[in-house]
Amino acid sequence: MKGVITAAGLGTRMLPATKSQPKEMLPVAKKPVIQYIVEELEQAGIRDILIITGKNKRAIEDHFDKDPILLADLKQKNKVVQIRDLEALENLNIHIFYVRQAVPTGLADAVYKAKEFVNDEEFVVALGDTIIDSLNKPIHLSRLIDFHNEANALCTLSAERIPIEQCNRYGIMDIEEFKGKPTPKAFNDKYLVKDLIEKPSQEEAPSNLAICGRYVFNPEIFDYIEKVAVGKGGEKQLTDAIRLSRETGQIAALQLAESERRYDTGSFSLYAKAFVDFSLKDEEIGPELREHLKKLKL
Ligand code: G1P
Repeated sequence: MKGVITAAGLGTRMLPATKSQPKEMLPVAKKPVIQYIVEELEQAGIRDILIITGKNKRAIEDHFDKDPILLADLKQKNKVVQIRDLEALENLNIHIFYVRQAVPTGLADAVYKAKEFVNDEEFVVALGDTIIDSLNKPIHLSRLIDFHNEANALCTLSAERIPIEQCNRYGIMDIEEFKGKPTPKAFNDKYLVKDLIEKPSQEEAPSNLAICGRYVFNPEIFDYIEKVAVGKGGEKQLTDAIRLSRETGQIAALQLAESERRYDTGSFSLYAKAFVDFSLKDEEIGPELREHLKKLKL
């Protein structure tokens, strides 16, 4: 299966940090956000990845280029840790392609830029500012792909329960239980989606189950994207395109398990949480940061 990462958003919620650099390149512990996402796709067995970029996003392309001069220099200076981390990045078993969304006209339009790349096959979409950290194997994205096949769906969405007062930040789903094969309890949150609405008010929200940044699509989704009208925020919304396909009864959703965490790095408070959590987990940064946090006596 091929993968598409959307990274064309302007990152206005992260200004001034994103004035001249992409939000996807902000570091979380030692790596930029988008590297976590590329690694996640690689772990799910995806080899061909298209990144949808736009204005001010060139640093993403530079990051995934190989840099033999830098590596040779590090080797000459015997910088062991840096060599290890750089080689891990350069040895990822993937091919990356890029396409630009010239005008930021919405997530649906961004995904439409992948039409030729996916070439009439099923594909994964990952939002470039959202990290999904899976503590257990198989990782969430692998489970999502498996469920897409099990449910014989046209679209399969990652889902997360959110506090209802935050529903105006997300696409929200109206669901019924998916009655498939019984699975281990922790992995049992599978749904069929009857309807969905982008960024509803609390009164409009049919549930507190939010779309959370990973999608598996059949190529028919492009037919629905072609038909979608301009929606919330004056943009063509992916949620609205998925909604148009609801008469097929083939929209499925898989809720994140407790061992699977979503980090939206598109706003400062959530970005800060991601930075702390991933830094605490890092074997070089973690111990010192932990001591520092203890001294703060929070
Ligand atoms: C996008 C989607 C929304 C989804 C959210 C998850 O919104 O349009 O349906 O719930 O990502 O983060 P954005 O955060 O780009 O405004």
